[in-house]
Amino acid sequence: MPANDFVVTPWEVTGKVDYEKLVERFGTQIIDDSLLERIRRHAGELHFMLRRGIFYSHRDLGGIMNEHEKGNEFVLYTGRGPSGSTHLGHLMPWIFTKYLQDSYGAKLLFQLTDDEKFLFNEAMSHEDTKRYAYENALDIIALGFDAKKTEIFLDTEYITPLYEIALRVAKRVTFSTAKAVFGFKNSTNIGSIFFTSIQSVPAFLESQRQGRGVPCLIPCAIDQDPHFRVTRDVASALGYPKPALIHCKFFPSLAGSDKMSASNTESSIFTTDAPEVAGDKIMNAFTGGGATVREQREKGRKPVECSIYQYYYYVFEEDDEKVAELSRKCKEGEMICGECKALLAERVKAFLRAHQRNREKAKDRLEEFMLRD
Ligand code: TRP
Repeated sequence: MPANDFVVTPWEVTGKVDYEKLVERFGTQIIDDSLLERIRRHAGELHFMLRRGIFYSHRDLGGIMNEHEKGNEFVLYTGRGPSGSTHLGHLMPWIFTKYLQDSYGAKLLFQLTDDEKFLFNEAMSHEDTKRYAYENALDIIALGFDAKKTEIFLDTEYITPLYEIALRVAKRVTFSTAKAVFGFKNSTNIGSIFFTSIQSVPAFLESQRQGRGVPCLIPCAIDQDPHFRVTRDVASALGYPKPALIHCKFFPSLAGSDKMSASNTESSIFTTDAPEVAGDKIMNAFTGGGATVREQREKGRKPVECSIYQYYYYVFEEDDEKVAELSRKCKEGEMICGECKALLAERVKAFLRAHQRNREKAKDRLEEFMLRD
């Protein structure tokens, strides 16, 4: 990898991601002001993740807006690879998806790819990924999705309706395409090579069920885009509309790297962390504050480089003016790291207490959401 470069695939994010460059590489579009204006009109209010360019890229979002303006329904589809417990970074696109569901009254299909994580992770048994899928489902439900409009499924438990469509997708995707898109090698197991056809299916499922083209919008982190390029390429030949996409950036980790990773437990906050433990993780997070309080008061800091600031920016401070204030105080040395961390720790603890209560309640509500064949 050349210096300053970066790699983004569905299974690997390394280097410092240049999000503008990624849009060029992937051939997606930046969400422009006219699209934002349309969403504002429909939703009444622009979600802060749109205002701040956290959800920043798309494919064919205008087409979905056209359908909506004509009074036609569309379906939302998103997913999660259950390779571990849910951390706060995972919640970010789901919170946004809920905003879309609430604003557009759209049905949501939520795919849990227990098959994917079994196939791609040497160390994981299917029992593990299935257990995580159910754990993750509790976090999804705890966010307050509308039970009447939300369907959650594990691939292995809903495979009968999925399989027929997956086969038709798979028949149209060659090994050389899969290699080019995902970087597979001769040593890659054949389940992994097939998997992308399973991730395509929910984009077509509602059309299949209704026997007519139902437009689909997929909110996802931009690393999932390669899958859906394949999905879009095969759509017309299979008689389905191409799904539209809306992409977000990655939630930064407490260690200061680009993507919060579930494999580093100290730099991620899990939804099941005891609030006190989460608070400690924040207090111990890397911020690179001044060597002394005095130095920091004099020189200030750069909030854009700070993981704690990112937490406020990406999830925990919805008010733009307050974010700007925080940034100013940090730069001018008015607020030093210890203080800023302590404030965030209180917010995260309060969030976790509420989320954990909802998560407990979700245990009795699983069956309202789960689809099985
Ligand atoms: N492959 C995704 C992951 O590893 C899970 C997933 C399946 C997904 N379908 C999706 C994510 C649709 C976003 C949108 O997390």
